[in-house]
Amino acid sequence: MWSLLIFVIIGLFVSQNSVDATHNCTILTKGSPYFPKNFKFGVATSAYQIEGGWNADGKGPSIWDDYTHHYPERITDGTNGDSAAESYRLFDLDLKALKDLGVHHYRFSIAWTRIFPTGYINSKNQKGIDYYNDVIDKLLANGIEPMVTMYHWDMPVGIQKFGGFSNTLIIEQFLDYAEELFKLFGDRVKTWITINEPNEICKGGYGTARSPPLLNASGVGDYMCFTNLLKVHGATYRLYRSKFFEKQRGQVGISLNVDYVFSQTNNTNDVNRALDYEFGLLAHPIYSKFGDFPPILLKEIGKSSRNEGRKRSRLPSLGTYWTSVIKGSADFMGMNYYTSMFINSSTEPRGENPSYERDYNYVSTVDTRCPKAKSFWLYAVPQGFEDLLKYIRDHYDNVEVKITENGWSDSGDLDDNMRIKYYKTHLQAVLNAINDGCNVTAYTAWSLLDNFQFHAGFIEHFGLYAVNMTSPNRERTPKKSAHFYNKVIKTRSIPYDF
Ligand code: NOJ
Repeated sequence: MWSLLIFVIIGLFVSQNSVDATHNCTILTKGSPYFPKNFKFGVATSAYQIEGGWNADGKGPSIWDDYTHHYPERITDGTNGDSAAESYRLFDLDLKALKDLGVHHYRFSIAWTRIFPTGYINSKNQKGIDYYNDVIDKLLANGIEPMVTMYHWDMPVGIQKFGGFSNTLIIEQFLDYAEELFKLFGDRVKTWITINEPNEICKGGYGTARSPPLLNASGVGDYMCFTNLLKVHGATYRLYRSKFFEKQRGQVGISLNVDYVFSQTNNTNDVNRALDYEFGLLAHPIYSKFGDFPPILLKEIGKSSRNEGRKRSRLPSLGTYWTSVIKGSADFMGMNYYTSMFINSSTEPRGENPSYERDYNYVSTVDTRCPKAKSFWLYAVPQGFEDLLKYIRDHYDNVEVKITENGWSDSGDLDDNMRIKYYKTHLQAVLNAINDGCNVTAYTAWSLLDNFQFHAGFIEHFGLYAVNMTSPNRERTPKKSAHFYNKVIKTRSIPYDF
């Protein structure tokens, strides 16, 4: 009995110390307890996840409409976004929730095919345009700033036909769309996000077959997508600055996502290399002094490509012209943060040849010491958030960061204490970073409402508000976390007694 106990205690000690001890799933409070006076709080959603009305009033199909209709078995609960929270029909309910929360801004996305059903601008759909005009006008009339994402994964089928992000044609196709958005809404929208989470788009849809368009060409398709997507973003920014900025005076950015990494062997080189792959691939071309992909990726992937007998690198440099278009092409960095990973360098080559996994070559594991959400990938690691913001401060010239997503999933309980705990610790991470000189100006909680989760359907709840999915009126009910967030906004601090 005693020997067993001693064995267990030693075992626990060893396992606690065999992983990085730089965080312990909680976070220390440091410095001022108040967010700066001009700091902005908001909430976020995206079109496909809340709007419903998938073919209402002339809307065209997107790749997510097609995908969920053709492969319902690939969504955990077999559902789709056909009706979701019905925000297309019931925006006034969302508006009431936003007002009750007291948010400064609302981040939502425009469904490309609602206003251009084929994706091309000669297919204008006035009803779709009216809808977004109504949303924007009502927000402004209530003192809520619209923060608009142009593209949150719902590529028009009519554009995907020609390859989407795997064809350079996407540059002019997207620019035409973006120009119309600036013309239609830019008099009132002052914060634009071109693209949401390129990592998910390119790795999920072009590198693997996790998401549409299911290209499944890792190590080639994903890099092709990243390259074209960066060009789309850079060109859109330049279009705004040259044709619209003088009159409209808005900001344009992009929302990147990354899981922060902790090295299991406390190896800083591994952390830097891993972040160059997972984050620098997108951040370096836009936000670094020299632009283009991180040198280490160009070198390593170039070398592997030569070894594979290729004439060209699977990740070619962006070249002088595009490097200069993309470098500096953002007024802020949008950051979606949810969780962090442990990494360990692999002694054996990993994954298929070629593949992103093989190029990256780390074993990634979740931190099972920390609380786990309903989503299998989501563990609460607030220290990773603080460290990521400091990494951005140090590597990307302390660029302005707006947190464009951060949130927690559960099974839908209105008494959502774990969500509140997640928000407390993650808001504290942001506050610590600000107190340490990070230029973070906004925080946006994901999400206003329970919504359709890409891949999981409606079983993972991220909302501050619950939605009655069995009622045609889709009534919204505030959870305990909605009251908590309201207090955060009112006091500009974290109500620990809540
Ligand atoms: C990030 C995505 O932008 C959003 O669409 C999704 O719902 C959340 N992650 C949670 O999975």
